Amino acid sequence: MFINRLTRPKLILVKKILFLVSILCLLYSCKEDSRATAPFDSYSVAKKIRVDKGAVVSAHPLASEVGRDILMQGGNAVDAAIAVQYALAVVYPNAGNLGGGGFMVFHTGEGESYSIDFREKAPLRAHKDMYLDSLGDAVPEWSRNGHLASGVPGTVAGTFLAHRKFGKLPMDQLIRPAIALAERGFAITEREAGGLNNYAEDFRKYNTRGSAFVKEKAWKAGDVLVQKDLAETLKRIAVQGQAGFYEGKTAELIEEEMKRGGGIMTAEDLKQYEAREREPVTFKYKDYTIISMGLPSSGGIMMQQMLGMLEPYPISEYGFHSPAAIQLMTEIERRAFADRTEYMGDPDFVEVPVAELVEKSYLESRMADFTPGVPTPSAEVSAGLMVKEKEETTHLSVIDEEGNAVSLTTTINGAYGSRVVVGGAGFILNNEMDDFSAKPGAPNKFGLLGTEANSIQPSKRMLSAMTPTVVLKNDKPYLVLGTPGGSTIITSVFQTLVNILEFDLPAQKAVNAPKFHHQWQPDLIYVEKEFPQAAIDTLEAMGYVVEERRAIGRTEVIKIIEQGIEAVGDRRGDDSAAGY
Ligand code: DON
Repeated sequence: MFINRLTRPKLILVKKILFLVSILCLLYSCKEDSRATAPFDSYSVAKKIRVDKGAVVSAHPLASEVGRDILMQGGNAVDAAIAVQYALAVVYPNAGNLGGGGFMVFHTGEGESYSIDFREKAPLRAHKDMYLDSLGDAVPEWSRNGHLASGVPGTVAGTFLAHRKFGKLPMDQLIRPAIALAERGFAITEREAGGLNNYAEDFRKYNTRGSAFVKEKAWKAGDVLVQKDLAETLKRIAVQGQAGFYEGKTAELIEEEMKRGGGIMTAEDLKQYEAREREPVTFKYKDYTIISMGLPSSGGIMMQQMLGMLEPYPISEYGFHSPAAIQLMTEIERRAFADRTEYMGDPDFVEVPVAELVEKSYLESRMADFTPGVPTPSAEVSAGLMVKEKEETTHLSVIDEEGNAVSLTTTINGAYGSRVVVGGAGFILNNEMDDFSAKPGAPNKFGLLGTEANSIQPSKRMLSAMTPTVVLKNDKPYLVLGTPGGSTIITSVFQTLVNILEFDLPAQKAVNAPKFHHQWQPDLIYVEKEFPQAAIDTLEAMGYVVEERRAIGRTEVIKIIEQGIEAVGDRRGDDSAAGY
């Protein structure tokens, strides 16, 4: 598809030559050649800071500054992360949120690791077939847009649980900057203006009341977005605590919104919501310790599977962006996604064979049919265990002076979630119900499939791909990273880790470099626009189908270096680092 100007015989000849080249590459690990093919400088947009004490990277400069200020006021990394999360709910309506959920991975300066699950839950009135029509076919519109698409939000409960356990400064001090931004307004970026304009029609269609996001004329960069209703909601949370969201006026406003719009969430759902502390997924990869999020996110387990499958191969010798490295990682990703589809779901509802899935011998057996240079068709890769009978998310990374590291990914799922703004409360509700499997074989928004393990049940949490991760080197924080991107979250974190740990790329290049992605089904390698053409050609000659797609991820990395802290934001968004 990329060489479509050639006649067919010539194309076949070119493909044959490329195939031979690819084999040579595989044999001789064409490290230097492949590096030369990547026009690196065109994506080396620098969003890097070097600081000594503490750093924050998030999707918006104003939010990163809020986090830095909290650190400078004596707050720890958890305080800063909470303040950034509330600020993002104001300055980054696309994904920042009160009406969504997420996961926090926390590694303390003393060396302990924790994770908090504040994933949304299916409302009590949800049921397995709620997105199927009378013929039994899944109706994507119902799970993706409007009132029926929302799970019970977890973000506010998550921040309060994190604060109760680890916070240092009072909660109202952490929410105050967000209140000021909502009340006084702030100048929106060009990217945000574009987003609000793109979805203006949806905001009109799915809302029962007007909102701050809709105005007569198109938005443009520099316009001031004032969110009075949101400021009031934030004040209720600052004054009443968690009950300021899950009970009283805010809960009433949510219930009324649901009634007006035909949704099913009730005040009872909100009252029952609880964030949970979970055991983080912790494992060794060579000299590093990886700490990531466990179920109901698939991210941590898949990271352990993928790095485990990778470990026996000398990938650093193959070279960054070399066809050999991309092919190996693609085949690993394919196998891990097949397992995700079959086995993973909310551990409070389904038994997931986690220990078996990450066992070394299992991972070795999973790669037994891998052949360099030859694709394994997804149709031949089913889930691997012999089981007995029976575009939006946002990530932020923070490190403080004591070495406490927070990796936090939250989401309302699609861009501007369900596009439903709670009337009188000013925040957008998620469309996370689409992360459930509406029916086996029916792909969700990200093309992901699922089985019974991820079917809808009242109060169940939908499976996630979010992968907030902390990496230790010699038991000390080395990397704090994560990204949005739906199913590509897992492969973006995987690639960023491989880029840094194996190919020794500087953090900014590791983030900026064009990415690829394979998720078992559909059986394609997705690549970003700037992906090196030579590598694409070689992979196509091997028999892979390669498809270009929009940007993959917005990865925020903090890296501890000898001279201090390096924090980098992704070139793909308004992302920005701040520190001191
Ligand atoms: O939890 C998940 O896996 C998805 N709801 C994440 C959605 C996402 O990353 C969209 N952002 N681009």
